[in-house]
Amino acid sequence: MSLTVAIPKGRLGNQTIDMFKSAGIGETIDEDSRKLIFEDKKNDIVFMLLKNSDVITYVENGVADIGISGKDMVMEKNADIYELYKMNIGRCKMSVAGIKGKRIFKDDTILNVATKFPEIAKKYFSVKGQKIKIIKLNGSIELAPILGLSDVIVDLVETGNTLKANGLEIFDDMYDINAMIISNKISYKFKREKIKETIEIIRAEDEKND
Ligand code: PRP
Ligand code: MG
Repeated sequence: MSLTVAIPKGRLGNQTIDMFKSAGIGETIDEDSRKLIFEDKKNDIVFMLLKNSDVITYVENGVADIGISGKDMVMEKNADIYELYKMNIGRCKMSVAGIKGKRIFKDDTILNVATKFPEIAKKYFSVKGQKIKIIKLNGSIELAPILGLSDVIVDLVETGNTLKANGLEIFDDMYDINAMIISNKISYKFKREKIKETIEIIRAEDEKND
């Protein structure tokens, strides 16, 4: 039975595809085409290109045996999967940010938090004892404090350019984020050798990024 691999569309996925290709795997993958599934018959691997936030869903349900996902999504979805390998790519931080020089402190009142990651934000502020209201957004999170939709944001920061360009700054760093290779638990039982072999190939390429 072939191995099914879920790849997120976008930069992380493209970097992963490059790694596979330099190892002679997935040479049929064409990121520029509109096709979403590619078969590498020679290596007996099927690749599916998915929206970043859907990779975990496909892996958890066993449609994909393994997948590449940001640690942010792994934390947010709290899915029943294995995290098998921490990659050197996709490195960034999850941070609390807001308008530069205007850090808002709220003891007994509710802090309005705009984010793509409601579960991560809820857990983080609950440990701190800060009451919050989540405003769930799907992108351009940085606009929320500027336009008065929220007090702060919880979002990924890589270069910090988006924050800077919008007059925001980091108030607190929350977590270090990176790409992970994740696996379906049953797949790991029955396709362990093939999964391990594939991860070793990626590891060899990924170590060049360290
Ligand atoms: C991501 C993230 C930040 C930005 C961080 O957004 O949500 O906005 O990148 O990168 P930087 O620190 O290097 O600027 P993305 O570009 O994915 O857009 P979206 O949030 O609108 O989906
Ligand atoms: Mg963004």
